[in-house]
Amino acid sequence: MEVPLEEDEASSSPNFEYRGAHLAFRDRWKGTDDAMCRHSMSFHLHHTLRSEFFASYLYLLEKVPLVKLYPVTCEYIKGEKQFYYRAQQFYQDVPASVEGMMGDFVEISNIDLEGSRQFLKRFVGSGKAGTHRALDCGSGIGRVTKGVLLPVFEKLEMVDMMEHFLLHAHETYLGADADRIETYYCYNLQEFTPPKDKYDLIWMQWVACHLTDKDLMNFLISCKRSLRPNGIIIIKDNMARQGCKLDPIDSSISRHLDIMKGIIAMAGLEVLAVQRQDGFPEIVMPVWMIAMKLK
Ligand SMILES: C[S@@+](CC[C@H](N)C(=O)[O-])C[C@H]1O[C@@H](n2cnc3c(N)ncnc32)[C@H](O)[C@@H]1O
Repeated sequence: MEVPLEEDEASSSPNFEYRGAHLAFRDRWKGTDDAMCRHSMSFHLHHTLRSEFFASYLYLLEKVPLVKLYPVTCEYIKGEKQFYYRAQQFYQDVPASVEGMMGDFVEISNIDLEGSRQFLKRFVGSGKAGTHRALDCGSGIGRVTKGVLLPVFEKLEMVDMMEHFLLHAHETYLGADADRIETYYCYNLQEFTPPKDKYDLIWMQWVACHLTDKDLMNFLISCKRSLRPNGIIIIKDNMARQGCKLDPIDSSISRHLDIMKGIIAMAGLEVLAVQRQDGFPEIVMPVWMIAMKLK
């Protein structure tokens, strides 16, 4: 049975199908933690996983054995952490187009943008967040920048790890509006510190899923410092119907809304509102928008 993810329920305590297994596993792990030989390889793998995916790793381990999970997430090969290396490899071959940004679901792009515009409206304007400058994180070619942010904000900045997406945004996709993009940052989010005290809004769409729990938390902490007064952060992403789901092809991890909220709370942010994107076909994983502000 699938747990329905309506807003009221999602904000109450977690009620995952795997919760029983999860708790049992957590108790067992707590016990082993003290008793286990601290030099054993599996202890080391568990500890590394637990530090990178502190909110998700037990859910992942319920589905993927440790020996398979570790190499696609935490292992370093030739100095590259595999979780990030695999995403880089994946996006290198993705075309700089709306189709590329949407994977197999280009037909839902307009519904997605409309849902975002409506959600954003609730948080900007008089007495709320300003409309001077926004940052689009994991912007790709600027699909969200163009369809949601440029109509509202005077100036935009974009950050993405793939140079060919940012070039396409500047040279073609954004047209004359490219003049209002102050800076394109070609960075990995896990290595990027946004400038201080600069943005009224930081938008992160379909990119939180590409960060480990630890890097996502740290990135949100940096984002807090880069908000202007009344500034907000919005995450829009796939949220697993229960637990967490890892896609080892593009190195993304979909987390249940409650797990995502746990990471947000650890970053010291307060959730203002959560809303599920409507109008997507059933086959698509639920997509949720979460607006948050400084506590
Ligand atoms: C599915 S696309 C979404 C693009 C855009 N947010 C949208 O909704 O159209 C994911 C984007 O995240 C970027 N990305 C993935 N991992 C990243 C990372 N660690 N740092 C920065 N950008 C990343 C990819 O290059 C890609 O442009």
